[in-house]
Amino acid sequence: MMASVPDLVKARERIKELRQRIEEHNYHYYVLDQPLISDREYDALMQELISLEKAYPQLLTADSPSQRVGGGLREQFKTVQHPQPLLSLNDVFNEGDLRDFDRRVRAITGRTVAYVVEPKIDGLSVALTYSDGVFTLGATRGDGRVGEDVTANLRTIPILPLRLKEAVPYLVVRGEVYMAKNAFARLNAEREQAGEPLFANPRNAAAGSLRQLDPAITASRKLSLFVYQIIAATGLKVDSQYGALELMAKLGLPVNPYRVLAPDLDAVLTEIRAWSPQRRAALPYEIDGLVIKVNDLALHSVLGATSKAPRWAAAYKFPAEQATSRVEGFILRVGRTGTLTPTAVLTPVRLAGTTVSRASLHNEDYIRAKDIRLGDTVVIQKAGDIIPEVVEVLPEKRSGEEEPFVMPKQCPVCGAAVVRTPGEAAYRCSGGLACPGQVMESITHFASRGAMDIMGLGPAIVSQLLEAGLIKDVADLYYLKEKDLLKLERFGPQSAKNLLEALAASKDRPLESLLYALGIRHVGARVAQILARHFGSLERLAAAGEEELTALPDIGPRIAASVQEFFAEPRNRAVIDKLKEAGVRMTAEAAPGETGPLKGKTFVITGTLPGLSRQEAETLIQQAGGRVSSSVSRKTDYVVAGEKPGSKYVRARELGVTIIDAAELRRLLQQ
Ligand code: IVH
Repeated sequence: MMASVPDLVKARERIKELRQRIEEHNYHYYVLDQPLISDREYDALMQELISLEKAYPQLLTADSPSQRVGGGLREQFKTVQHPQPLLSLNDVFNEGDLRDFDRRVRAITGRTVAYVVEPKIDGLSVALTYSDGVFTLGATRGDGRVGEDVTANLRTIPILPLRLKEAVPYLVVRGEVYMAKNAFARLNAEREQAGEPLFANPRNAAAGSLRQLDPAITASRKLSLFVYQIIAATGLKVDSQYGALELMAKLGLPVNPYRVLAPDLDAVLTEIRAWSPQRRAALPYEIDGLVIKVNDLALHSVLGATSKAPRWAAAYKFPAEQATSRVEGFILRVGRTGTLTPTAVLTPVRLAGTTVSRASLHNEDYIRAKDIRLGDTVVIQKAGDIIPEVVEVLPEKRSGEEEPFVMPKQCPVCGAAVVRTPGEAAYRCSGGLACPGQVMESITHFASRGAMDIMGLGPAIVSQLLEAGLIKDVADLYYLKEKDLLKLERFGPQSAKNLLEALAASKDRPLESLLYALGIRHVGARVAQILARHFGSLERLAAAGEEELTALPDIGPRIAASVQEFFAEPRNRAVIDKLKEAGVRMTAEAAPGETGPLKGKTFVITGTLPGLSRQEAETLIQQAGGRVSSSVSRKTDYVVAGEKPGSKYVRARELGVTIIDAAELRRLLQQ
């Protein structure tokens, strides 16, 4: 049922008001750490917003606080029963298979049929429900019968229309959520910087991003969508698959522009042959084949389906482009966080449009599992068409001279011991910032865009500076002099001036950028932001205990341990001191504890404060800039007296110190 106009207007106003209030409380809670209302009151506001947004989905926007951490957080996804099973497709790998498929179709229908050819998008399948033209439910395919309710996450995909161009009473469409090649590359680069495991291909990345409990993470992942099938509908007339695609496009749904109506199988084959590897490589997203569908929808019911797949469609899978080459050597790359990644050096070969001379071997376990040895002939392919990898070894090509890979005991760059963290596949160099390999990577990261954003300081210049002995760590950058730079190759007065200016400007980067720039393991841009907002200064973060860290949203024991390890390392502390001396900003704009309404005031608490534990009161006072002391003296500014105050109360009266109650304290805090 459509809502009446006055209801909708009222709902819109109330939603706006609720969002403003919740955002304000979020700010007080997360940023200032001074909640103005109890958790219960906050939850009530959020619940009201969520139920209004449920009742009026057209008013829900991706920027609503209900979509954020906390508000949008669910323990797990609800399950959704699909209106009809979301089937899979039968794969075919060559023209012969496809002719067999066409023969079966003609045998059952008794005539020549026309087909639609569509790209087979490599992502994950979803079912989207629109009621009265409004997007109300989105589910993953799941086991085909029952999927997971990922509506909130799907709403964050910009191309997904929250409302159709026409208020069709009921429409369920099927489509594919995918991650474009460039978004995938960027995400993996960020994960590498943060020392997090990489996604093997865009499909895994898309699936991992959509099945996040926090829609804000999904929103940051740059997902996209194509729809390709009408699953159920009322109030629509469609009699062909081609017509369905056109109709969905007309309703504003994203339909892939490549769709070809082929009058018979020969036309389909001509179409398939037109897909060269280059054409496929030029698409901004991955496709792993073409889908061939009978065009006439009436024939779909005639042909029917097996329990797994319809008989009216087939997935033609592109052959994976492979090549053979020889392993000429193993090299180890030292990452910013010290992870040693083995890479195979190959005899150069052409593969999917590029010359390949390296293949990632991921880690030692991978090499063992595939038994890859020096001198082996190997089959390689590009995983998701991007990163070349070794598919298999051809043992029949072995001469017996091949040598197994051995992880060195010492870092090939700095000679420090190589260690393996229990429970992880990766080996790491233990040299820390003393390892030039790690230093090179960590300085380049420090200067990069999302970090300190030092324009003009790329890998080539970092390596020049290191080689000239002008820098040993990131802090040395801020002590560079013009005369030092002028000694370097390719440095003139102008480029030296530019670099020094960029360095000076970077001193005022926000705390979260500095935190990210320091390259603490597992602290990516997002975690850095959470930490900066909560702690307000590097000093406070360095002093934080595990409990305070893990109490924060999205911070688990792994991140907490990594933060504590980083600040416990004397070499890291020395670098931070040097940065501080150089004038690099170490605090957020308004650091809790350093400014605030109670700045410079000393408090003593006595008795039980109504509605406030002793610990809470102390934290609130400290975060508003005040100090809490345990004994009353002439220097005490306020004694906060609760029920049953003790001797401190008596002492305060003797000394004439101002005595206040909990309500008065709250008033001071809110000033
Ligand atoms: S039609 C019953 N069309 O490929 C019809 N599927 O390997 C089912 N896919 O699970 C699907 N692009 O996730 C169809 N243009 C397209 C597709 C497509 C990608 C996916 C879909 C399906 C899988 C089967």
